Amino acid sequence: MKIALGSDHGGYLLKEKVKEHLKEKGIPFEDFGAYSQESVDYPVYAAAVAEKVAAGEFDKGILICGTGIGISIAANKVKGIRAALCGDTFSARMARMHNNANILTMGERVIGPGLALDIVDVFLKTEFEGGRHQRRVDLITKMED
Ligand code: RB5
Repeated sequence: MKIALGSDHGGYLLKEKVKEHLKEKGIPFEDFGAYSQESVDYPVYAAAVAEKVAAGEFDKGILICGTGIGISIAANKVKGIRAALCGDTFSARMARMHNNANILTMGERVIGPGLALDIVDVFLKTEFEGGRHQRRVDLITKMED
């Protein structure tokens, strides 16, 4: 499993913590920026990660901004992307089981790092359930065409 990571300045510090966590777990990743807390525009980083995931170059993406909202809205503009903003582990599990979300988004200014890393773990280990949920995801895909 290969993970594409991105954030704006508002998510930079949490992204650094997520990187450490993935390193400790031996999960390969690539960081598409931002590379500091200098003010930047979140759609740029949402697009960079979302395009890599949509192209199949990465299995999943993790995007972080201040609230997780802007970067989620932007990532979901890319065809094939189902980005889910999660602030709890139940939502992270359901985002995978029911929605087959391929990008997790989080808000650094909303949740603490301990919870954020638990959310990452749940998101990365949970499989899509398929079945009736596949039909619903297919309907979302149809809306893109
Ligand atoms: C940046 O100040 C902030 O607006 C951004 O990180 C994010 O919260 C937007 O949704």
